[in-house]
Amino acid sequence: MKGVLLCPPDHFDVVDVKNVFMKGQAGKVDRARAREQWDALAETFRGIGLEVETLPPTPGCEDMVFCANPSFTGVNRHGRKVAVLSRMRHESRQREVEAHRRWFSEHGYDVIESPVLFEGGGDAVWHPGRRILWGGYGQRSVAEVYPFLGIVFGVETLTLELKTDFYHLDTCLCPLDPKTALVYPKAFTRAGNTLIRRNFKRVIEADEREARDGFACNALASGKHVVIQRGSAALEEKLRQAGFTIHPVETGEFLKSGGSVYCMKQWLF
Ligand code: ARG
Repeated sequence: MKGVLLCPPDHFDVVDVKNVFMKGQAGKVDRARAREQWDALAETFRGIGLEVETLPPTPGCEDMVFCANPSFTGVNRHGRKVAVLSRMRHESRQREVEAHRRWFSEHGYDVIESPVLFEGGGDAVWHPGRRILWGGYGQRSVAEVYPFLGIVFGVETLTLELKTDFYHLDTCLCPLDPKTALVYPKAFTRAGNTLIRRNFKRVIEADEREARDGFACNALASGKHVVIQRGSAALEEKLRQAGFTIHPVETGEFLKSGGSVYCMKQWLF
């Protein structure tokens, strides 16, 4: 991945409860603070060598800052960049997809539409360095989307059922390098945990507090860099021991909406 697409939080707000993390947060967003946190996040991404592009925000789209969801990007087996447009579960988020269609069409991507319920890079996560796609299903995406994506990109897909509060795969699984993943095991079924351990030699576990309050598994890894919500000191230490350079950031305003570092960007190739 050469960079990330971000959407400024001009219209960011919590107006309803789409996931359990949003409970009691309506009307509590401090937009000036959100902007500061977003600016610092963009700066951190640039600092670890990622190009940062921005998507103009659409008025009335309060969740648009979560750029991971309305699309999913990758490179197919012919080397072509492809953006798959999502079919969002919530009506208020379906309106975000049009802006992604326009941006990716204008930036050299083949753009196609998901035929079924699918929330993009929130549930479809690349395995670093391998032609493998991890797919979460059961809440915002259906399992049927993964055979489709497997054909579109010419890759193997491995699916994980989500049955807990961890509603998107990127809230509980963060592949760090070809052999290592950061995981919140309680978000997965027994079969899911087995599949993860079969494909990652090293599994670093987040505990309940780190996963829930700190959204630690919503970290972003690029090379040996890991950008993560600040506050999970013990976990940060484990990551350092494993050879990663940690960049703690504050995404507190976005945690009120059930999102953090990873889902605030879309990967660019
Ligand atoms: N409020 C947003 C929603 O519930 C947050 C999305 C966060 N995205 C993610 N991939 N975890 O749709």
